[in-house]
Amino acid sequence: MASHLALVGCCCCFFLVATAIALNINDYGAIPDGITDSTQALQKAWAEACAAESNAAVVVPAGQYVIGPVMFKGPCKSPVAIQLDGTLLAHPDLRLYRPNWIEFQYIDGLVLSGAGKVDGRGSAAWGSNKCRQNHISNCRTFPMNMVFSFVNDATISGISSIDSKYFHVLVFGSQNVTFDSVTVAAPGDSPNTDGIHVAVSQNVAITNSVIGTGDDCISIGDHTVNLTVSGIACGPGHGISVGSLGRNPGEQDVVGLAVRNCTFNGTMNGVRIKTWQNGPKDLAVRDLVFEDLTMNAVENPIVIDQKYCPSGTCPETLKPSRVRISNVTFHNIKGTSETMTAINLVCSQTFPCEAVQLSDIDLKYAGSDANATCINVKATVAGDVNPAAFCR
Ligand SMILES: *[C@@H]1O[C@H](CO)[C@@H](O)[C@H](O)[C@H]1NC(C)=O
Ligand SMILES: *[C@@H]1O[C@H](CO)[C@@H](O)[C@H](O)[C@H]1NC(C)=O
Ligand SMILES: *[C@@H]1O[C@H](CO)[C@@H](O)[C@H](O)[C@H]1NC(C)=O
Ligand SMILES: *[C@@H]1O[C@H](CO)[C@@H](O)[C@H](O)[C@H]1NC(C)=O
Ligand SMILES: *[C@@H]1O[C@H](CO)[C@@H](O)[C@H](O)[C@H]1NC(C)=O
Ligand SMILES: *[C@@H]1O[C@H](CO)[C@@H](O)[C@H](O)[C@H]1NC(C)=O
Repeated sequence: MASHLALVGCCCCFFLVATAIALNINDYGAIPDGITDSTQALQKAWAEACAAESNAAVVVPAGQYVIGPVMFKGPCKSPVAIQLDGTLLAHPDLRLYRPNWIEFQYIDGLVLSGAGKVDGRGSAAWGSNKCRQNHISNCRTFPMNMVFSFVNDATISGISSIDSKYFHVLVFGSQNVTFDSVTVAAPGDSPNTDGIHVAVSQNVAITNSVIGTGDDCISIGDHTVNLTVSGIACGPGHGISVGSLGRNPGEQDVVGLAVRNCTFNGTMNGVRIKTWQNGPKDLAVRDLVFEDLTMNAVENPIVIDQKYCPSGTCPETLKPSRVRISNVTFHNIKGTSETMTAINLVCSQTFPCEAVQLSDIDLKYAGSDANATCINVKATVAGDVNPAAFCR
């Protein structure tokens, strides 16, 4: 199989020649005509790569491949690579999915790279999505483009996720996963198309990427530990959000998040933490840094919302959120807000936010002064913070 390397014509051939057996899916019967279902060929090439004694690479050359649900399942005998140069087109028959499209499970050592695309062809499904935006708990009915669960030591680079029917990417139960130079693209009005959702995972990094979609660019679920986000251009989309948290009894703490050097363009939110009221147990969200961020025409640039109520009809009698938010830094955040309240921090009456630091912030509203809300927050303010935040 190594003889096919000469045909790949990619920038990484030296790497492949040196370390890997290449398994071209066309040799397993895949047909890049944009019509023929090539799922079995891809699945067979994976099975062989995963069983190989030394590093193997599944190669998807340029071309359009129609692919139904695929499970890339480990454990594998050695680390495995997928060189994606072609486009994977989601099979149009929604009944095939159970429930997601491309899943990676129980893999230690994965490199997914190339200039290829994963195209969920979501426009056919979005119209029948009846879930309220952000109200995701009871409506996981549409396939996500890519799910990485129980995957360790993985690098995903170069590829694009296009028009997912639901979240583009989910990372769950995984450690040491890096997304670098990826692109996520879907229309700003596509429902529930979160870019990358990370939960129950540790040491995940998302760097130098462009994410424009219909929901959060990056969303962070419970039990996320040490997530690094940097060099992201977000927009359209709903911004980078922690939560919503504090509703389910099984949730565990979020500890360690750095969001640096990102640009938000025309998004609904910039950076946001949202928690429900009336929670079943105490939970912590701590050690968060948001810095070196540019907001261009962002509706709500800086938000902590501990009275999260997407339905808009929560009774006043709900008990305050039981999520303890502490050690959160907002530093060097500049640009423009589309609403007057550029900084909106509303914390829990029971557990006020602690050790919140605001420094070097300059956010304007329609060329004039914005304002700030800061309730139940123990904050320190340093350097110029505009709008001035009077926290109580
Ligand atoms: C993740 O990386 C850390 C630091 O390199 C290492 O100690 C840990 O064993 C890795 N975890 C897994 C599951 O590979
Ligand atoms: C946090 O994750 C990054 C990789 O994203 C890793 O380099 C770093 O060592 C981790 N930090 C800790 C304290 O584990
Ligand atoms: C900031 O992110 C951009 C990509 O959006 C990258 O090109 C640049 O090198 C990053 N700068 C720093 C200081 O990390
Ligand atoms: C920002 O968004 C606007 C409106 O969608 C678009 O025209 C513009 O090109 C975007 N700018 C950047 C830097 O992405
Ligand atoms: C606050 O968070 C930062 C990083 O997010 C961490 O380095 C620091 O140790 C934390 N401080 C405390 C007092 O826990
Ligand atoms: C900010 O301005 C809006 C619009 O004028 C106003 O409704 C709101 O009360 C102001 N908030 C603060 C904290 O001043």
